[in-house]
Amino acid sequence: MRPKIICHMVSSVDGRLLVERWTPPAAGIDADIVHRTYEQVASRFEADGWIVGRTTMEAYAEGTARTPRALPGNLRSTHAADRKGRDVAVAIDPHGKLHYGQDNAGGDHIVAVLGEQVSDEYLAELREDGVSYLFAGPDGHDLHRAMDILGETFGVRTLLLEGGGRINGAFLKAALIDEISLLIYPGIDGLAGVSSIFEYVGGDDEKPAAGRSLRHLATDTLDGGVVWLHYGVEESAVSS
Ligand SMILES: NC(=O)c1ccc[n+]([C@@H]2O[C@H](COP(=O)([O-])OP(=O)(O)OC[C@H]3O[C@@H](n4cnc5c(N)ncnc54)[C@H](OP(=O)(O)O)[C@@H]3O)[C@@H](O)[C@H]2O)c1
Repeated sequence: MRPKIICHMVSSVDGRLLVERWTPPAAGIDADIVHRTYEQVASRFEADGWIVGRTTMEAYAEGTARTPRALPGNLRSTHAADRKGRDVAVAIDPHGKLHYGQDNAGGDHIVAVLGEQVSDEYLAELREDGVSYLFAGPDGHDLHRAMDILGETFGVRTLLLEGGGRINGAFLKAALIDEISLLIYPGIDGLAGVSSIFEYVGGDDEKPAAGRSLRHLATDTLDGGVVWLHYGVEESAVSS
């Protein structure tokens, strides 16, 4: 069974997601308010880990491409390395672009979700780093398959989907989001075209959220005037 997936994000009041572009907190409000409230709310869900897109995971991938010391046989099936009881940090990286150099991101055990076309050398490098991996079909875009493996092989029950907008959009289109947990920071971006929390890449006639409706579950005003909105994602009663 696949894990429950909660999309947990923070945005400006204009729905943008690049934190470094937002106006600063009002006088007297802690500069760390975004990070602190985001982590406080994340801990409420008691999740088994988090998922991000390849671009967002780049901030944690500290290795460089290298030739592995050995090339063991039988590399091309799900590899569960020693998790040591840690939460999982899942990177959706279809082409195997990320080089980790370690087995964790912020202390959580890395699981790479890959396309089947990645090389044996890359898989051997991940094993040397102590990173787990699994395959999401030939092009690495079969998110349902990836989530099923995380549930069945890694025993993951609840995951926080933490961006960026493009991977959130792909999960939305695949109808894989069960809840949305959104913090609204009292700041503004203001520029046209900056990413929002869902950025599905598709044609003008596509509606990636078609067939879904949001049910309000909770609202909370947090430190510094950050507002938390919590929704369940349901099948729509009427077609859209
Ligand atoms: N405000 C927040 O809460 C928050 C949270 C997280 C991130 N962020 C910010 O968001 C920015 C990154 O967002 P992003 O949208 O550019 O990148 P992203 O969603 O982190 O990663 C996108 C990449 O994921 C890979 N991918 C795998 N499967 C995919 C699929 N089915 N559809 C689309 N992409 C798929 C692709 O990698 P390939 O190109 O290798 O194919 C794609 O380029 C960063 O600046 C980060 O700081 C903000």
